[in-house]
Amino acid sequence: MKTSASYLEKVYPLRAGASYVIRAILPTDKERIIGLFNHLSPESRYLRFAHAISKLPDDFLEDVLDLDYQKEMALVAVIQTDDGQEEIIGIARYVTPSGQSACEFSLSVSDDFGALGIGTHLMQELISYAKSNQLSEMLGYVLSANHKMLQLVTELGFQIENMESDSEFNIVKLSLSSRS
Ligand SMILES: CC(C)(COP(=O)(O)OP(=O)(O)OC[C@H]1O[C@@H](n2cnc3c(N)ncnc32)[C@H](O)[C@@H]1OP(=O)(O)O)[C@@H](O)C(=O)NCCC(=O)NCCS
Repeated sequence: MKTSASYLEKVYPLRAGASYVIRAILPTDKERIIGLFNHLSPESRYLRFAHAISKLPDDFLEDVLDLDYQKEMALVAVIQTDDGQEEIIGIARYVTPSGQSACEFSLSVSDDFGALGIGTHLMQELISYAKSNQLSEMLGYVLSANHKMLQLVTELGFQIENMESDSEFNIVKLSLSSRS
């Protein structure tokens, strides 16, 4: 059953006195998600999707906007543009395979807003939301060449393992149990 997200939006400082908001994704965010993708360099697209793509696949867009807000969740980082519109500058998402309690995350931040802590804050909020929805573990598949992402998740306490089946990837894991 679909329910609305119980996530309460939070405001974070950006630069030069500006701020951004982290909030749950909305069904009306489709064009803003496409806008974020258009602000990712070819390298960032490759690191996120593990292959070169020039356009977001339609089924990806449908999946990311159609969530149950418990076993599937997406948080977006949003700024106000000069003309008063919202622009999405980052997204963190998890999905949980049916019958499992370990969720799989993904993360993207606009190249124009890198190294400002946005990816870290999105992940911290996503981890906290997953914990509050009784998920047991968060995991992700990160290219071994993606040093920035591996550093980011290491600082968040994830364990990094080599994937035996594919040496190009690492699997990163964080226990979400209450004692961790
Ligand atoms: C990887 C990615 C998500 C990082 O996002 P980000 O918002 O730049 O990440 P952060 O700013 O939180 O952290 C990155 C760096 O900024 C530093 N940083 C964090 N807060 C900061 C702040 N307030 N001021 C300055 N620097 C800061 C961090 O220490 C980190 O530095 P390090 O690389 O030396 O450790 C982003 O580069 C991206 O979208 N890459 C392409 C997609 C991808 O690789 N996704 C992961 C696969 S799922």
